[in-house]
Amino acid sequence: APAPLIDPFQRAISYLRVSVTDRCDFRCVYCMSENMTFLPKRDLLTLEELDRLCTAFIGLGVRKLRLTGGEPLVRRDLMTLIRSLGRQIKTGALEELTLTTNGSRLGIYAEELYAAGVRRLNVSIDTLDPDKFREVTRRGDLSVVLAGVDAALKAGLKIKINTVALRGVNEDEIASIAEWAHGKGMDLSLIETMPLGDIDGDRTDQYLPLSLVKARLGQRWTLNDIPYRTGGPARYVSVAETGGRIGFITPMTHNFCESCNRVRVTCTGTLYMCLGQEDAADLREPLRASANDDLLVEAIREAITRKPKGHDFIIDRRNAKPAVARHMSTTGG
Ligand code: GTP
Ligand code: 5AD
Ligand code: SF4
Repeated sequence: APAPLIDPFQRAISYLRVSVTDRCDFRCVYCMSENMTFLPKRDLLTLEELDRLCTAFIGLGVRKLRLTGGEPLVRRDLMTLIRSLGRQIKTGALEELTLTTNGSRLGIYAEELYAAGVRRLNVSIDTLDPDKFREVTRRGDLSVVLAGVDAALKAGLKIKINTVALRGVNEDEIASIAEWAHGKGMDLSLIETMPLGDIDGDRTDQYLPLSLVKARLGQRWTLNDIPYRTGGPARYVSVAETGGRIGFITPMTHNFCESCNRVRVTCTGTLYMCLGQEDAADLREPLRASANDDLLVEAIREAITRKPKGHDFIIDRRNAKPAVARHMSTTGG
């Protein structure tokens, strides 16, 4: 077998996140501006190219594959790619094939996702108040997303809810989101907002450190740190009163870069070694230059030698520019 991907800090790369489209049917206030410009469709890798790219990474030791966006389920014919990649779950080449989705199309795709081999999904929901949901997503309809969640649960998918903690927006609602999620047997992951890309407004106003949220939850409930891990960046606690788990994703207050196991590829075939750095490698050209994967594998290996130690995100009122110019929707988080 080929040598696995090990970076200069002895971290093995086993988790690939692939943004299959930069487009989204929502415009969440912490993610995008109202008038986002999206990439011209001709720049996108085809579904066949995405399949080949993922397969090359699987050959190099990737065991966990997450499709993201933008919103992955808005990409036309995405199920063709998912069915193809799902075969690698069935052969054991891949341990997990999963998606991060806003849930708007889950009602349509839940059963097909399960049939293709997907077993777990992360669904982003920042508030359970329908009016607030409309404000935060600018486009979304909460009832459609909730129906999508129910369809996914009914199809047998395990769901984790992702909630970005937003000061003055959902901070008073976090415990009730946890109660709702736990009541349906779902985990909840809370996320600190990260300074990626320009948004219409000041991120400093939105930023809420999770250390504070955790302390508040700890006054209400008995939280116990648990070793449960999914291969992602969240650190979990169990909640004695609800019987559920809450994950904390704390890039700002408690950096998890030391144990980073992941890289991400954009829908145009750009490989980013870190979510919080600009350095990248183009994989589209080596992918297109030849039908065999030698150049592609060489480009991937070279890029991994450049994986940085960590991000240098800061959210600072005196420093209005985001740490990274591209939006989360380009790299899918
Ligand atoms: P699980 O497999 O359920 O653990 O998922 P995940 O947390 O890896 O994936 P998801 O797409 O749900 O991401 C949740 C949040 O974690 C998003 O806001 C991502 O941007 C963030 N995230 C994931 N990986 C990284 C990373 O390497 N660095 C930083 N800073 N954030 C990350
Ligand atoms: N900071 C933190 N999380 C973000 N997300 C989108 N933009 C940001 C940001 N700037 C979240 C989404 C989704 C996940 C992929 O990332 O809500 O749950
Ligand atoms: Fe779309 Fe997700 Fe960004 Fe919201 S956070 S605009 S759902 S990509």
